[in-house]
Amino acid sequence: MKRIILTGALGQIGTELTVKLREIYGEDNVLATDIKEPVDSPLEGKPFETLDVTNYEEMERIAREFKADTIMHLAALLSATCEKNPHLAWEINMGGLVNALEVARNLNLQFFTPSSIGSFGPSTPKDQTPQTTIQRPVTMYGVNKVSGELLCDYYYEKFGVDTRGVRFPGLISHVREPGGGTTDYAVEIYFEAVKNGKYTSFIDKGTFMDMMYMDDAIQAIIDLMEADADKLEDRNAFNVSKLSFDPEILAESIRRHYPDFELSYDVDPVRQGIAESWPNSIDSSEAKRQWGFDAKFDIDKMTDTMIEAIKKKI
Ligand code: SER
Repeated sequence: MKRIILTGALGQIGTELTVKLREIYGEDNVLATDIKEPVDSPLEGKPFETLDVTNYEEMERIAREFKADTIMHLAALLSATCEKNPHLAWEINMGGLVNALEVARNLNLQFFTPSSIGSFGPSTPKDQTPQTTIQRPVTMYGVNKVSGELLCDYYYEKFGVDTRGVRFPGLISHVREPGGGTTDYAVEIYFEAVKNGKYTSFIDKGTFMDMMYMDDAIQAIIDLMEADADKLEDRNAFNVSKLSFDPEILAESIRRHYPDFELSYDVDPVRQGIAESWPNSIDSSEAKRQWGFDAKFDIDKMTDTMIEAIKKKI
């Protein structure tokens, strides 16, 4: 029987992951936690505890009392927010991660946390970036993510904690919008297309980044956590991605629904700089080979689903 606790459950990934895990494992077997209260969230009125991930004692108490056997650690600041406040980023992203790993070690929990395409840097090969390659990120977010990947491997090798993790691309979803990320334009564009028929992008034309629809990301987490440990040659930092596009390609997909959709640019130098330091497209073949990663949403299927859902929402 799974007993799963999530940190950062009100975030972009956590909200949909919690709902899906509850469908699979039962509502009472999944405990959502976040620093905020679940107001106007699908998690409102369901099992929930407030938790600041920099507080180790509280995290351990909640996991122990819940009798958790798994912790999914999602609480983190995204790339652009980290650049605005790098010290706070270190405190939350690394402090929270160490606490979650220590809880997993002390209570013998299976462990998941996401890394990111942000763990790569300008000297990384740009196209079909291999899983094992040069990682010299130039952002605080990237420094956090590489450190986190190494720390998760360390806890597995040194302490035998069953740590597992993926490198996510930009994730596109309509339930809970992301905040403070570089890939956020690819979510905002859909909301603006439906509401106003136009969008001003802070990422420049011709800037390719990896992306994936949220349903595929959630399934990847579940599949990796369920994967037979004997089949895993790696534990953490699996490249997973499905799509690679720039704003123009995304706009073309949207124009199938809104032929007059207008895309203009007001490039943010900070987020543009971050985007340019990341790969154009990463190679997910190890995730496919070792645990059967299989993303289903191509760009048009994603666009159709996003637009349909946003129309219902607003
Ligand atoms: N979506 C994240 C960001 O843009 C990347 O992992 O910060």
